[in-house]
Formats: sequence, C-alpha cells, structure tokens
Amino acid sequence: MRKKIIAGNWKMNKTLDEAAVLATEIRSHVMHSGHAHLVTILAPPFPYISELAHHCADTSGLELAAQNCHTETQGAFTGEVSAQMISSCGASFVLVGHSERRLYFQEDAEILRKKINQAYACGLTPIYCIGETWEQRSTGKHFETVAQQLRESLFHLTPDFFASHLLPILAYEPVWAIGTGNTATTEQAQEMHAFIRQELQQNWNTDLANACSILYGGSCNASNASDLFACQDIDGGLIGGASLKATDFQHIRQAMLEVLA
Ligand code: 13P
Repeated sequence: MRKKIIAGNWKMNKTLDEAAVLATEIRSHVMHSGHAHLVTILAPPFPYISELAHHCADTSGLELAAQNCHTETQGAFTGEVSAQMISSCGASFVLVGHSERRLYFQEDAEILRKKINQAYACGLTPIYCIGETWEQRSTGKHFETVAQQLRESLFHLTPDFFASHLLPILAYEPVWAIGTGNTATTEQAQEMHAFIRQELQQNWNTDLANACSILYGGSCNASNASDLFACQDIDGGLIGGASLKATDFQHIRQAMLEVLA
C-alpha cells in the first residue's frame, strides 16, 4: 500500500517562536494519533528547519521538508540554500516546482529538472509540484500542461534509478485553487490524479505508478479533506493556509486517519 501523506507548506509565514509552538502542537497530534501508513510532513521556512528538526526528532511519522533548494551543491550563490545544507539541517524532503516558484522566481522546466537531480544527489526526496493555470484549464490544456511538466522535469529519471532511490512524491496543485478558496471538485481532482498515475505507468511501469503517492493541494481544508481523500488516486494533501493552525491541520490529518481506519 502506498503511503498517505499530509504535508503542510508554511510558505513565508511565522516567526521562529510561532513556528516552534505550531510544530510542538502538531508533533503532539502525531504522537497521539499516528498510523503506520500515514506520514506527516512540515515544510517551514529555511531558517527554522534545524530548530524544528530537534522538536520533531524521534517522532515516528513526522518529517521535515524545505520549500525550495538551489540547483548546485555549494559555491558563490549569495542568498541561496543547497539541498546538501537542507539535508544537513535534518530535513528529508524538498518541494520542487511549486507554482509560486515557477511564477515569481521564473523557475522553468530545466531548472526544476536540475533541482530534482540535486535533491536526490543530496539524499532528499523531492515533492514535485505540478498543475495548470485557469487559462490552461479553460482552454482544455490542463492534461497536456501536467504531462509536459512531468515529461520535462521528472521523466528523465528511469525505473532503474528507483532501484536505489525513493520515489518522488507528486503534488497536483491547480494554480487557480491555491489560496483562492476555489478547491478543485473531487471529480476534477480524481480525474487529474488518475491521469498522472497513468502517465507514471506509461513512462515508468505499473508497480512504480501504483507505489507513487500523489497529493492534492489548493484550498484543501478541514471541510473538504474527507471527500478529496476518499478518492482512489488522492493519497493526501499539500496544505497551505490550513496548515498554519494546528487544529485545522489536525482536522485534515484526522480526515486521512478515517480513510485509513
Ligand atoms: P492553500 O492550501 O493555501 O490553497 O495552498 C496550497 C499550496 O500552495 C500548498 O503548497
């Protein structure tokens, strides 16, 4: 059975003290309501990763992710953070290709392919974010867009590679649903997740496609999480706004625990 994952992308929010309080509350929820198949991932801003790694240490089922990494391991790149640094601070995952990175920081397919390679080279598992804009969906280009994002930045990795590396996590985040309150319907989300899995199957193989966790992100909250997580190909959520309050995030985790029960 593939892993179910509830991940919180805190984006550029919280002070260190606030982040520590939030992580401590979530840790307590994870300790009191865990499941062998559920992994909870927190993606705080870079400066907090090391501190939160201490808070989360030895908590089974609780992991840390960075929100981004650079394409190179080290060097004269003032202001940048490498996957190696992230790994040395205690995170195991890194978001790659979030639509805010693609849009505001001009991260294109080639950069994202390098970031995925760099993450693996430094022992991190990428959480690769894909999804279409409203314009792409409204002109019927949503499947083509997502297929292209997979082809250009992920499918250079072959099944052989995964004999010695963990599968990436995929996150389908329709851009029009992020931070808007316009959550994708369960039909829209399930249809795209099934399409993504089919692409994985065609480019890799059935076993890898079935083992890959595909998360939904975009205005996922305590009221819609149960319906989304009940869908066959939705293996969890990448949560933005609703991950910033421990009680909201716990309700979303609870929705997944009920699916697993
Ligand atoms: P919201 O949950 O705030 O829509 O954000 C989703 C997201 O971008 C997670 O990466």
